[in-house]
Amino acid sequence: MTGSPTLFTPLTIRSITLRNRLVISPMCQYSASDGLANDWHLVHLGKLAQGGAGLVFSEAIAVQCRGRITHGDLGIWSDAQTQALRRITAFISSMGSVPAIQLGHAGRKASMQRPWHGNGPLDETDIARGEKPWDVIGPSAIPLADGWLVPREMSQADIQKVVEDFASAARRAADAGFEVAEVHAAHGYLAASFLSPVSNHRNDAYGGDRAGRSRMLLETVEAVRYVWPKDKPLFVRISAVDGAPDGWSLTDTVALANDLKSLGVDVIDCSSGGILGSATAAKGPPPQPGFQVPYAQAVKDGSGLMTQAVGLVLTPAQAETIVAEEHADLVAIGREALTDPNWPLHAAVTLAGDPAWEQWPPQYGWWLSRRARLLTALGSARSSNCCADSF
Ligand SMILES: Cc1cc2nc3c(=O)[nH]c(=O)nc-3n(C[C@H](O)[C@H](O)[C@H](O)COP(=O)(O)O)c2cc1C
Repeated sequence: MTGSPTLFTPLTIRSITLRNRLVISPMCQYSASDGLANDWHLVHLGKLAQGGAGLVFSEAIAVQCRGRITHGDLGIWSDAQTQALRRITAFISSMGSVPAIQLGHAGRKASMQRPWHGNGPLDETDIARGEKPWDVIGPSAIPLADGWLVPREMSQADIQKVVEDFASAARRAADAGFEVAEVHAAHGYLAASFLSPVSNHRNDAYGGDRAGRSRMLLETVEAVRYVWPKDKPLFVRISAVDGAPDGWSLTDTVALANDLKSLGVDVIDCSSGGILGSATAAKGPPPQPGFQVPYAQAVKDGSGLMTQAVGLVLTPAQAETIVAEEHADLVAIGREALTDPNWPLHAAVTLAGDPAWEQWPPQYGWWLSRRARLLTALGSARSSNCCADSF
């Protein structure tokens, strides 16, 4: 590589400057009680902030108690939950990363088992553990699949309450120290289930054509943007295609992105799938590395908004190509960061964006820069020995 990598060029969105284009993708930990953040969340998100990403996303944090996916989800509908998040945002900021919150409501995909308890609807085994199912809501009384809870069709008053609760949650998020907020409208959860004709069969103003099915999300985003500080960025995560035959399409997404732009959204985070089951653990043919990047490109080209690419970005070179060739403005890393929380810092070294290991926390970087010189010297010595041996 020649020149400095685009991946490690800072990016300013509104008043917030990210030190690089790498983002830790939202990842549920299913490890909370009563929606409260605890030491697991501090260490999990803290080590990812130490790992050098420009932006560190929380998992999807529920705006209503019934909007949790599982009993272990984080929530932000109470003062105690807001308070518990403060030390996490403070630590992320102290590491030079920007703390971001994903605000969500699971809709008809609420009341589920944690993945390692079965990833299905809550059942007798969960009840025996003290984790009872609860009533779920959705645009129409259509379950995710056979055997799943049938959601109660939401009244317009229910929709208004969800919109208000997203706005209250955004106000609390600013109070908790988050600098970026994202509305979760992907993966078949509540907002996505309004968008998709697969799950939205309503005949009123919140169903029907694309404009009707988009109304719930647009009202939510408008309410969030109204309370979210003007100088702070707002993202929306969308399933660019929902993966169902005759479902939500990329054309729909580009049109929606233009509507979201007019409401003051800054970045569209482009994922896919989830309306018929899990987006990340989906069955079917294995996706290819970077399979969702074309969605980020299409939305960027079709709306002029900044986009975030995500999904099977596995190598620093791949991430660099995405931003250098302007397929997207940001690259989110999920499972790679679980295997290596220092993925962004390693990427900086690999791409020659950090020759002196200065992006590492000094507690580590000072030692590692010297170790790198030693290893280089050992490597030369080894190769000269090797040559000597072979003569
Ligand atoms: C453990 C785990 C939890 C996840 N939780 C969320 C979530 O809360 N919100 C969300 O939008 N996506 C969630 N996802 C999806 C990721 O954000 C990401 O889009 C997906 O894993 C693909 O990126 P990757 O290939 O880099 O892992 C989750 C993924 C994993 C592995």
